[in-house]
Amino acid sequence: METVTSVREMKARSRAWRKQGLSVGLVPTMGFLHRGHGSLVERSVAENARTAVSVFVNPAQFGPGEDLDAYPRDPGRDAAYLKSLGANVLFMPAPSEMYPPGFATFVEAPELGRRLCGSSRPGHFRGVCTVVLKLLNAASPDRAYFGLKDAQQFFVLRRMARDLDLDASLVPCETVREEDGLAMSSRNSYLTPAERAAAPLLRKALAGAEGYLKGGGRDAARACGIVKETLASEPLFELDYAEAVSTSDLVPLSVIDRETLVAAAVRLGRARLIDNVIFDPSPSGPARKRRGGA
Ligand code: PAF
Repeated sequence: METVTSVREMKARSRAWRKQGLSVGLVPTMGFLHRGHGSLVERSVAENARTAVSVFVNPAQFGPGEDLDAYPRDPGRDAAYLKSLGANVLFMPAPSEMYPPGFATFVEAPELGRRLCGSSRPGHFRGVCTVVLKLLNAASPDRAYFGLKDAQQFFVLRRMARDLDLDASLVPCETVREEDGLAMSSRNSYLTPAERAAAPLLRKALAGAEGYLKGGGRDAARACGIVKETLASEPLFELDYAEAVSTSDLVPLSVIDRETLVAAAVRLGRARLIDNVIFDPSPSGPARKRRGGA
């Protein structure tokens, strides 16, 4: 596995692969990799002749007072893990490479990016869209892989890809969980033992809503009520939101009559945890529709 630090080099690698007729997969990450990232890389390696993985803690998606400086980093361990998974290139640009002096152009999907996490993290999805577009330009992949723990991120990026006629297909991948149900996240490393013990309740709360929907319930307020009531039973949790929205535009629903994202965010000590379930009341089901990617 080669490590590449400049956009120019990344473009050259991708161009050379394409000249040989090889398909390219990209897995964008912020590093401190865990098995969730590993599953994206494994899928890319299985579906493409070449896989590039970016590790870049993107300053543009962190707000003032957020954890940019504290964000966990371990580039040596990440490189060893990626090599063991069969990635071909580790793209690890410096912030000055991605945002050189004078950088002034940003991309955003304002409607979708203001909802859910966007309301407590203003500007976050603008930073995500901008960096992902730059990473897609650098690696020119056929496919780019994203985990569905960050479902809003996937739906915002899918809209960007559609609106800007991007060539890459964006592939949503199922959330990977710890044995007790907690969605894997680099930020779980912030949790104290007591917080870590409480954390799986977020998944349980969402599973309660999913059970209600699978049992035929279609009242969005009731589904969200189940989540909120469960979360309220844990004093360490501070609720940010629990909402049921349409996956196409992230607009809140009152009746669940289309593919729906039930998403929640809580603050737990230094961490902010997010998780979700995606439910489709139509007979064809959710996974089949999403598998089509962008
Ligand atoms: O999901 C992440 O790790 C980041 O938001 C991403 C997509 C790598 C952009 O910085």
